[in-house]
Amino acid sequence: MTPNGAFDDLATEYDRYRPRYPAQLAEAAIGPRRNRLKVVDAGAGTGICLEWLLPPLHEPEVHAIDISAGMARAGQEKFPSVTWHVGQVEEILPTIGEVDLIVAGQAYQWFDRPAFLAAAAGALHHGGRLAVVQNNRDHASSATLSAYEGLLEAKSPGYTRGYRQIDIARELAEGLGVPETEVLAETADWAQQMAVADFVGMSSRSTQVQRAIKAVGLGFLEDVRRLAQSHATDGQVSIAYRTELFVAEVLSQQKSWASYPLKIELSLALVLCTEIKSLASQFCRFKR
Ligand SMILES: C[S@@+](CC[C@H](N)C(=O)[O-])C[C@H]1O[C@@H](n2cnc3c(N)ncnc32)[C@H](O)[C@@H]1O
Repeated sequence: MTPNGAFDDLATEYDRYRPRYPAQLAEAAIGPRRNRLKVVDAGAGTGICLEWLLPPLHEPEVHAIDISAGMARAGQEKFPSVTWHVGQVEEILPTIGEVDLIVAGQAYQWFDRPAFLAAAAGALHHGGRLAVVQNNRDHASSATLSAYEGLLEAKSPGYTRGYRQIDIARELAEGLGVPETEVLAETADWAQQMAVADFVGMSSRSTQVQRAIKAVGLGFLEDVRRLAQSHATDGQVSIAYRTELFVAEVLSQQKSWASYPLKIELSLALVLCTEIKSLASQFCRFKR
């Protein structure tokens, strides 16, 4: 979980520099239903995930939750018709009622995940979906990004390039009680070109770099600039991303399964009552 307010001072610049999500993955997150969905963006930040998710939806009711008042304020300016909640998603989600779709963009790793998954399982109705999406810098395929990860690992306390290695498919499956084979996993590979100054700007607004600056001072940004410059072509740095999307759907049987034995017993009882009633009326007729 992030300390309250860790993102507060980053909001405006965060929104300016953060990569967006590839449009082709939005439909997979949403699923076949598009009309009047009740949607929650968990860890919504400045609404970058909403920019991605909302265009295909018709008349959605949208709630956005973020622990940082600064991020939520910036998001509210962009999406005033969304209901913004400031606080912990684990606590606020259960107060919103039944929902169709919960999405967490670049935020899942910050949560108390067991508590979040329990809240999501309680909030989603039959056919409801939980989608987790994240942009990962593809350092395995890029010398620039591999060097950048090395710099962060050297100077940002506690940072390792594998910091988000969570088995998301397994956690969603266990959290929502669906088979892991039913969790949809999709990826999209893409790249963004950026001027060296923008690369430094983007870098300076990440929490990992903020930690490095705290540890070694503002000179760290000069290291970033030098690194970007040495890998740039015509002043542009290429940043390779692999976007990962995981979606788990609460199947109808799962929530209604428990009520099946009761339904069967009630039907049997009804048949039995009808039989008894007809036997009784035959017996009365016979006696007369
Ligand atoms: C990296 S940002 C992602 C923002 C946005 N979803 C996006 O796609 O760019 C993570 C956000 O999660 C929020 N956050 C972290 N832990 C949280 C929690 N337990 N409850 C609510 N929000 C949380 C942070 O304040 C931050 O705005």
